Amino acid sequence: MTEEIPTKVNMEKIVSLCQRRGFIFPSSEIYGGLSSCWDYGPLGVELKRNVKEAWWRAVVQERDDMVGLDTSILMHPKTWAASGHLEGFTDPLVECKSCHLRWRSDEIEGDRCPSCSGELTESRLFNLMFKTFMGPVEEEASIVYLRPETAQGMFVNFQNVLNTTRKRLPFGIAQVGKAFRNEITTGNFIFRSREFEQMEIEFFVKPGTDGKWFNYWLEERLNWYVKLGIKKANLHLREHAKGELAHYARACSDIDYLFPMGWAELEGVANRGDFDLVQHASFSGKGLDYFDDDTKEHFLPYIIEPSAGVDRSVLAFLCDAYAEEPDKEEIRVLLHLHPALAPIKVAVLPLSRREPLVAVAKDIYADLRQCWMISYDDAQSIGRRYRRQDEIGTPFCVTIDFQSLEDNQVTIRDRDTMNQIRLPIAELKRTVEAKLSGEDLFVLPPGGQIWKEEGNV
Ligand code: GAP
Repeated sequence: MTEEIPTKVNMEKIVSLCQRRGFIFPSSEIYGGLSSCWDYGPLGVELKRNVKEAWWRAVVQERDDMVGLDTSILMHPKTWAASGHLEGFTDPLVECKSCHLRWRSDEIEGDRCPSCSGELTESRLFNLMFKTFMGPVEEEASIVYLRPETAQGMFVNFQNVLNTTRKRLPFGIAQVGKAFRNEITTGNFIFRSREFEQMEIEFFVKPGTDGKWFNYWLEERLNWYVKLGIKKANLHLREHAKGELAHYARACSDIDYLFPMGWAELEGVANRGDFDLVQHASFSGKGLDYFDDDTKEHFLPYIIEPSAGVDRSVLAFLCDAYAEEPDKEEIRVLLHLHPALAPIKVAVLPLSRREPLVAVAKDIYADLRQCWMISYDDAQSIGRRYRRQDEIGTPFCVTIDFQSLEDNQVTIRDRDTMNQIRLPIAELKRTVEAKLSGEDLFVLPPGGQIWKEEGNV
């Protein structure tokens, strides 16, 4: 086997494809956009949903020791005092006295403004939480915060989950949802934004077993990205040094990805110890300890937290899937997205707009869309239609030609190899299902035959 080497794509190409094909647009674009906020378009919303669904499937649906939760974005303000966010969720900020741009002082070199070389103010700590007011009165007593992480909703519901599910340690809670941070420096497309989504797990374990579970989750989460198609060479683990650890963490390792701007955090796995349950028990006055039926002990569990960003995962999957391949005199742009993530699973392409061919194609389209997101495209040459689907990562194209009217067969084309097979329409749904779940395209269904080259239809 040849060894993989890390590969980096150009960010402009990803941004351009995302805008051109309707994956991601700047937020409120007609007003000039809103800094570091993004809208997911018709294809982006499907890709993002598929990423979240693949995560949920792996960490909740297919496991006995996990349950899900969906907690509110606004939480009791005491939550943020207990969690340490009110006091400690800050970045050091400096402002240029000439151009008034703001910078994170730990991210710039020297003591002048990186933009205009102007003089900078003294560094001060800037809290990253967004404040708003609850109810009709804007006063100190009604201040609430947009959550900066989904995690706290799971800690404060620990006893509710324990009481209603009868789960015993070790077990975990999973949640997907929006988080908001008033980041000082943003950029790199959807990598760092002020409104984003997280996929977080809080896994509760008996103290003393935390080291084992920390390693388990690190490996489990790394493998998730690889199983969904990210090249191993583009991922690595980075252990946090002691001085770098967040206030709640006993240990933390990042899963870094080789993004277009370089290696950067895709997901963090932290050992939070009992910090959160101690804090919430103390600030709420409610007992949050766990009773072990075997040892008859009461104790506060330790928590292992794998915390991933949905948007960063979307960006990593897009970057990793992007390819430009020589194709005769042209370049074929394609996304080698894993079928589970591809926004559209199958494109139905009638070779002509004439009846009765269209009726057959429409029937196939109507049948397949009961199961998956399907697109129907009858505009321009078949070659151009294939290229359009390649560029958005559609794994399979089904072509209906005049021969289909006689033999009730259609051609199915594989995005990555461009190989084609011809098979009976009656076998199509079952075949697509098998192929989407990873079966070799050249295991022929009953009555199928291999078509060798693109353009045979
Ligand atoms: N509960 C722990 C926690 O929130 P974090 O490292 O601050 O940890 C976890 O965030 C993940 O959330 C990151 O690895 C990243 O994928 C994502 N994330 C954090 N800040 C983000 C931002 N401003 N924009 C996009 N994603 C972000």
